[in-house]
Amino acid sequence: MAVITTRREGDVLVVLSNNPPVNALSIDVRQGLVQAIGAADADAGIKAVVIRGEGRTFFAGADITEFDAPMREPGLPAVVDIIEACTKPVVAAIHGTALGGGLEVALACHYRVAVPSAKLGLPEVKLGILPGAGGTQRLPRVVGVEAALAMIVSGDPIAAGRAQAIGLVDRIVGETSLEADAIAFANEVAAKPEHPIASKATATADPGVFDRFRAQNARRLKGYEAPEACIQAVEAATTLPFEDGVAKERALFFKLVTGTQSQALRHIFFAERAASKIDDIPKDTPLIPIKTVGILGAGTMGGGIAMNFLSAGIPVTIVEREQAALDRGVAIIRKNYEATAQKGRMTPEQVEKATGLLTPTLSYADLADCDLVIEAVFELMAIKKEVFGKLDDIVKQGAILASNTSYLDIDEIAAATRRPESVIGLHFFSPANVMKLLEIVRGAKTAPSVLATCMALSKTIKKVAVVAGVCDGFIGNRMLTPRQREANALVMEGATPAQVDQVLLDFGFPMGPFQMSDLAGLDIGWDPATSNGAENFRDALCEAGLRGQKNGHGFYDYDEKRNRTPSAKVEQLIRDFAAKQGVAQREIDSQEILERLLYPMVNEGALILEEKMAQRASDIDIVWLNGYGWPAWTGGPMFWADTIGLDTVVAGLEKHAPRMAGHRLSTLLADKAAKGQRFTG
Ligand code: 3HC
Ligand code: NAI
Repeated sequence: MAVITTRREGDVLVVLSNNPPVNALSIDVRQGLVQAIGAADADAGIKAVVIRGEGRTFFAGADITEFDAPMREPGLPAVVDIIEACTKPVVAAIHGTALGGGLEVALACHYRVAVPSAKLGLPEVKLGILPGAGGTQRLPRVVGVEAALAMIVSGDPIAAGRAQAIGLVDRIVGETSLEADAIAFANEVAAKPEHPIASKATATADPGVFDRFRAQNARRLKGYEAPEACIQAVEAATTLPFEDGVAKERALFFKLVTGTQSQALRHIFFAERAASKIDDIPKDTPLIPIKTVGILGAGTMGGGIAMNFLSAGIPVTIVEREQAALDRGVAIIRKNYEATAQKGRMTPEQVEKATGLLTPTLSYADLADCDLVIEAVFELMAIKKEVFGKLDDIVKQGAILASNTSYLDIDEIAAATRRPESVIGLHFFSPANVMKLLEIVRGAKTAPSVLATCMALSKTIKKVAVVAGVCDGFIGNRMLTPRQREANALVMEGATPAQVDQVLLDFGFPMGPFQMSDLAGLDIGWDPATSNGAENFRDALCEAGLRGQKNGHGFYDYDEKRNRTPSAKVEQLIRDFAAKQGVAQREIDSQEILERLLYPMVNEGALILEEKMAQRASDIDIVWLNGYGWPAWTGGPMFWADTIGLDTVVAGLEKHAPRMAGHRLSTLLADKAAKGQRFTG
């Protein structure tokens, strides 16, 4: 069936697009639109046109899958010009989302009507590009420069009501009567002598507005190329005639769309969607209804995990060993919600509703009826086993029993129960109420319905989930291990902690490994009773009283405002330690630091793939982007490795191998490098 069909309703031509799932503006759609507008122009009986999307949405944008090939004519810029030049008024009838090219089509229409639930936006910046079909020129002419800048540079959509308030939507119509209301609107406006044409309007702005915007958003936009291009394009709308502004927009668009940042961000778009698919689990696998959740342990993780479910309206029973820990945990949950309310992101009623769904208790028996229990107690196998044995006795059959363990063997934990098929790892990241990532650890015996339910649940609690196999540290922490090993080795060999951190900051990470240690506390897992200051330099630092940010002294010294300066004392302690160990110190340059920190991570990622501990390379990227602050514009570790060339990575690993204790080259990586292949795309 044709993707674009037309139908007469009296004097109005209704143009329907049916290109599931999101009505992307693929070549067939563009051709169909041009034909439909041609037909409307040619037929004197037609007084107006309504364009509408079938299914769940108006056009959600250009077809991103077409970006890698040369553009097929008619391109979207030509299509929108044809729509705008139609001799009959054209009305966009919007439901679902009018995004990107979809909103550009709507802007070329003379009028826009929308249902209350519709969302309108120009999200191109999130794909590393800018609106390339006149959006940067028409939007400021329709809604003004400040509103347009905010929409184009953030990429966030706005609701129909807000769109009406800024003049983007002419009328809000009935939620269930979009087509009829749009036709009625078209009949009303058909009688008017003239119709608004966005490209003919002018956009004016105080020239200072752009620099102010740059300054206000500098931190958020750091590292990305597209936002600056967006700002320049909108600026052009205020200084250049429409045609010249469009030409500038096109030039910027082409530069970005062929650049590595946009390729990386498009990779992420598809990687995020791929991550939710589990290869051997059919889509129709029955799900276990999750109406109530139990959490064991109200510590750092238990409290944060609980908040995810409370915020989603799911009641939580939280169990602790002793009253004081329970009270502390509950108080922190409340404090976090209140802080959110103070920032205006929750109403007091919402705070009450969420906290009202929480039942604190000291009794395991209260977990009996939970559909899902997540354990977040101390990271010790003996304790985990004891706890799972108890849960097995108490919790109803059919419920999911999950562990939030960071490193431990889920199969061994599952074996402590008589129902290993119900056991799974749900590895949240700290702070669990904020961090987007959820590693779902699939045990050898985990039932398909348990896995599918957890995957579906991750959407309910707004997490990005990735399936991992059972191995030490799963995907994320396993790859952190070689990076930390090399970071430590580098400072032993003569780099300073600040130098190592700086390399990762320059690469785009929010923090380096030593800043991370300072934040977590140098004494995590350190035992003064057994510490002898001889095994690793961290023992020596702990013995010297350094604890990190919490006592103001770690790899850096901190002032009351947490500003950091590299600690000369630490540098000396490490030098002394290296001398005692007989490790010679030398000058180390940034390139070596980068290669020794990141190439072993890529290698570990390849080992993870080789051992089938991740389903696909792009899943590894999703883990590092959402859980560890890997800079999005590089696409994640595996995409980044593809970008620089796997042969480059292997050559680097071979060069540094003599210094990298414990390094083992992945066969998969070596093979792919030899064959000139990639991990992704
Ligand atoms: N092109 C191609 N495929 C697209 C697409 C697009 N613009 N938008 C979505 N899809 C695909 C997805 O990959 C997914 O495929 P899959 O089922 O095979 O995994 C399927 O459509 C459904 O998408 P979602 O799972 O994301 O569905 P949701 O209902 O969760 O979300 C949405 C719907 C809000 C429309 C979301 O898909 C979205 O944000 N899409 C991208 C919107 C966008 O970025 N538009 C701008 C494109 S660039 C542009 O227009 C350039 C122009 O200025 C020239
Ligand atoms: P925590 O020490 O802050 O909290 C653990 C809580 O469990 C304490 O309040 C303790 O009283 C309680 N507890 C211990 N035994 C119990 C029992 N038998 N019954 C009920 N409650 C009991 O520890 P944290 O950091 O929350 O870690 C919990 C788990 O989450 C660990 O397995 C850890 O590896 C994992 N994890 C931790 C992350 C972090 O950044 N802190 C990140 C991801 C996972």
